[in-house]
Amino acid sequence: MADERFPYPLRLQKFLARAGVASRRGSEDLMTAGRVTVNGVVVTELGSRVDPAHDIVCVDGRRVEIAEHPVYIMLYKPRGYLTTMDDPQGRPCVAELVPRDIYPGIFPVGRLDKDTTGILLFTTNGDAAQQLLHPSKHVSKHYVALVEGRITSENRKVLEEGVMLDDGKAQPAEVDFPKRGSVAWDAVTPEGIRVGQTVVGLTIHEGRKHQVKRMLKAVGHEVVFLHRDVFGPLALKDVEYGSWRLLTEAEAASLERIIEDRKRQ
Ligand code: URA
Repeated sequence: MADERFPYPLRLQKFLARAGVASRRGSEDLMTAGRVTVNGVVVTELGSRVDPAHDIVCVDGRRVEIAEHPVYIMLYKPRGYLTTMDDPQGRPCVAELVPRDIYPGIFPVGRLDKDTTGILLFTTNGDAAQQLLHPSKHVSKHYVALVEGRITSENRKVLEEGVMLDDGKAQPAEVDFPKRGSVAWDAVTPEGIRVGQTVVGLTIHEGRKHQVKRMLKAVGHEVVFLHRDVFGPLALKDVEYGSWRLLTEAEAASLERIIEDRKRQ
């Protein structure tokens, strides 16, 4: 009998990503490594398709299936953790902070630098990263930075018009100045603020490596502390530093709306 959720055969890497085994790219690696079988036969060809209603897919001999609903987790990433699910050198990584035993297959959507704090989304939805972080349609993110120096109106204008970076001009950013004592201000001043330093907010719509630090450096401001408090439709709230929570139904629905809309585009 046809499975109404999956009326058509799926590409195997998409099936694996949806089952929460790994991202689509990670799933391709598992396939080419010969770790995936369909109905008992090893499948390495990336174009292969499976029928989720009938085929039995295993990774390393263990059956994997697509859960009814993907899982979405918000982590308040603390300082000192790498954004990876596995560090061969054994350094602290975010995998230690999220419940991967309860929700196998969760992976981070995008990354924050080791010394950056704030909102980091994890999911088993293999479409999430591709749709939310596609270079041409990154969701907006808001960062708060404690920087050296005062931000002049000229520098603000440069950031708002698109500052030149070594890998090309950044898209225009929105600049704001969080109020002293606000949640955003407190997040980047756990060790206080010195005379001559500034707390500045930036909304950006792309995600190059060290983007915010490089944008601010390009206009002469060294970042002392960086924090992300908004990722797409999600705001960092109701979660303690270093802890995680599941997204509420409303949050998950807002995220899925974006993912589904973009898939249709
Ligand atoms: N930009 C940075 O420079 N670092 C981060 O962690 C995120 C955005």
